[in-house]
Amino acid sequence: MSTVLECRKLAKHYGEGDLAEPVLREVTLHVQRGEACVLIGPSGSGKTTLLSILGCLLTPSGGELHIAGERVNFGSLRALGELRRTRLGFVFQHAQLLPFLSVEENLRVVGRNAGLERVALNGRINMLMQRLGLEAMRGKKPDKLSGGQRQRVAIARAMLHEPSILLADEPTAALDWHNGENVVDMLIAQAREARAALIVVTHDTRLLPKFDRVLSIADGCVKETPTLKPHAN
Ligand SMILES: Nc1ncnc2c1ncn2[C@@H]1O[C@H](COP(=O)(O)OP(=O)(O)OP(=O)(O)O)[C@@H](O)[C@H]1O
Ligand SMILES: [Mg+2]
Repeated sequence: MSTVLECRKLAKHYGEGDLAEPVLREVTLHVQRGEACVLIGPSGSGKTTLLSILGCLLTPSGGELHIAGERVNFGSLRALGELRRTRLGFVFQHAQLLPFLSVEENLRVVGRNAGLERVALNGRINMLMQRLGLEAMRGKKPDKLSGGQRQRVAIARAMLHEPSILLADEPTAALDWHNGENVVDMLIAQAREARAALIVVTHDTRLLPKFDRVLSIADGCVKETPTLKPHAN
């Protein structure tokens, strides 16, 4: 087992001085490669805030974040950009695809930004399209896809550069149960196969048994909750 994501006493407050509102007080967490975690907690408890810090999109007010054994330097925009491009993959509530590009072009743009060579990029796109059942959608624009198909494209986009950490903030919130379950199954399968650490935020407790670990956030801290995962799975 190797720890790919570690936070030590992470804290975050919004605002300054008397107006400072603590959201995260002391979040300490270790996630191993290949581990599928779900993060739950009431609305406003800080799930998006935590995911944004783990994804190097938001600077914490205190504590440390280590990715692949190295402490993240939140003072360096260049270092943060590099981590996001090479180590991190994101899936959001709404897929946020570029509407004027086809599915394939949406992936190609991100792959080029990540610095993938043409041949390697073609190989990754072909493989992910096939795994995620998107081959027939390649040439279509996002508005011709269903919500579940769009989220599958978002997963392909997040996995394109083989990130070691995959973060998903309520990826099923806009989907019905069947499509939502399918998207979570695919996220877990893709993360397992790539041995990426996965953290998914959801309000849907029916999905919890699919994950290796259930993390719950309350009063600014993250606690481990016994998993409901059946052993055979
Ligand atoms: N940019 C911001 N400026 C000030 N306060 C903020 C900001 N972003 C979030 N907050 C506050 O921080 C708290 C946590 O917000 P966050 O979005 O992390 O919660 P959440 O657990 O993701 O909630 P939800 O389940 O509704 O998405 C909330 O009280 C929110 O109002
Ligand atoms: Mg949120």
